Amino acid sequence: MIRLATIGTSMITGEFAAAVKQVDGIEVTVVHSRDAAKGEAFAAKIGAPAVSTDMAAMLGSSEVDAVYVASPNSVHASQARDALRAGKHVIVEKPAVQSAAEWIELTALAKAQGVVLMEAMRSSYDPSFETIRELMGTLGPIRGATLRLQQRSSRYDDLLEGRVTPVFDPAFGGGALSDLGIYCVHAMIQLFGEPTRVLAASVPVSTGADGSGDALCVFDGMVVELSYSKITGSPLPNEIRGEQGRLTFDSINNPAIVQVERRDGTSDERRWDKTEFNLEHEVARFRDLVNGLDSDASDQAASLSALRVMDAIRAAATA
Ligand SMILES: NC(=O)c1ccc[n+]([C@@H]2O[C@H](COP(=O)([O-])OP(=O)(O)OC[C@H]3O[C@@H](n4cnc5c(N)ncnc54)[C@H](OP(=O)(O)O)[C@@H]3O)[C@@H](O)[C@H]2O)c1
Repeated sequence: MIRLATIGTSMITGEFAAAVKQVDGIEVTVVHSRDAAKGEAFAAKIGAPAVSTDMAAMLGSSEVDAVYVASPNSVHASQARDALRAGKHVIVEKPAVQSAAEWIELTALAKAQGVVLMEAMRSSYDPSFETIRELMGTLGPIRGATLRLQQRSSRYDDLLEGRVTPVFDPAFGGGALSDLGIYCVHAMIQLFGEPTRVLAASVPVSTGADGSGDALCVFDGMVVELSYSKITGSPLPNEIRGEQGRLTFDSINNPAIVQVERRDGTSDERRWDKTEFNLEHEVARFRDLVNGLDSDASDQAASLSALRVMDAIRAAATA
């Protein structure tokens, strides 16, 4: 049994803990919080037996095998580093870190320590992307794609009323690219690989964080458009365009409907009945990696590619 400690007591840790309950061989045994009362309440809510307020003691405990990091983005790297140094396996919420350089450092540390390090990029472990990839193969040469995630956030209303939350705070690594654009970037990496060139522009909010943005990612013979926003909403689907047809899917972070129309008149459709967050697949993958059933190298390489693209988008958007 893998004994997991969680860092962060917000909604996503609750969802993650619920997913852990659905997966054999792994359980949440410790909730870490900076606040004892908050930790106790959260542990009671998710059914965890112990609470920690002392990070060093928690990481030093022989009763913890692995750590799930779900703190604000800017804190991930130092907390993951401390956990890796303590010999713990780490699964860290997206974006795992703030730059490709930080990821290279942490993956080297994990390797040296002989432990697993994985980004909790839920969509990357969703089997529906394998179906999208298979159906994409029936469209002839792919020439373009539009991958998008635009969700107006309730925290934008907070911001408009003067309350800054980490997701819009540059000091916490907030912003639309890190929070939502990352799903478009990871899907692009998964479906097409890494682009040769990136053009980008973004719209800042009052804190200086990006509220929305668009990027053009150039490949040999194809251009992928990424569009993401936390300050506007849009229900338009994602689209992949080939010379012999097009494929659309509803949601970049949790596809439930995929449709294909081809020039020869044929069509395809796949539908899935899913939970809102669909986190079981990433939990099962982490368990298998910790149990040594596979190497984390390809998972880490995908995260590195995504972080490189995000570095390039930020550089292009501020050029
Ligand atoms: N996979 C998904 O679908 C999904 C969805 C939402 C968010 N996320 C990711 O999950 C992470 C957390 O996002 P969030 O919006 O939930 O963040 P948040 O509410 O700002 O913070 C999450 C928790 O981090 C803990 N924390 C630990 N160290 C902290 C520090 N130094 N400063 C502030 N808080 C600290 C806090 O718990 P205590 O006060 O109890 O210590 C807090 O409840 C982000 O990386 C985000 O991208 C993923």
